[in-house]
Amino acid sequence: MSSSSRDVLAIYPGSFDPVTLGHEDIARRTLRLADRLLVAVAETSTQTRNPLFSVAERLALLREVFSGDERVECVSFSGLLMEFARQRRAHCIIRGLRAVSDFEYEFQMAQMNRELWSEVETVFLTPDAPFSFLSASLVREVAILGGDVSSFVSPAVLRALAQKLGR
Ligand code: PNS
Repeated sequence: MSSSSRDVLAIYPGSFDPVTLGHEDIARRTLRLADRLLVAVAETSTQTRNPLFSVAERLALLREVFSGDERVECVSFSGLLMEFARQRRAHCIIRGLRAVSDFEYEFQMAQMNRELWSEVETVFLTPDAPFSFLSASLVREVAILGGDVSSFVSPAVLRALAQKLGR
């Protein structure tokens, strides 16, 4: 992906319930490859069953976290990711790959997405080592059970978690 010859638009989709430092790391790495990044909260996620934050709350946190970078736009979308990518004329979908355990789920989604619309490529990026075990679901669980998640999320997310959990 050359960013000199064309305006490369990447979509980083996910549940972001809530956005973690691992997500932020993947987003920053994406901006080494793409000119613009759409961080897109899915209203329908394949895995998330009981969200802690509403889509509007997750979007507000993403906007706060990425407010310093004008190359990043945070949006939500409903329906199929590939339909959204087609409408926005995106060049690629970004997904973070932490460990082998992520691979099967990610591979299935990437292949299905290619069947749905083959004009966009899925690109997998690996996070910095300290975030290689981090997931939003673990952050939620640890926070709900009273553990300290301050090294895994931005201060804005930490405040939102404290407020949500009545602490
Ligand atoms: O962070 P997540 O929950 O692992 O992200 C999964 C997500 C949101 C990327 C996936 O569920 C998705 O693309 N949802 C939109 C609906 C859709 O297109 N489903 C078919 C996926 S093959």
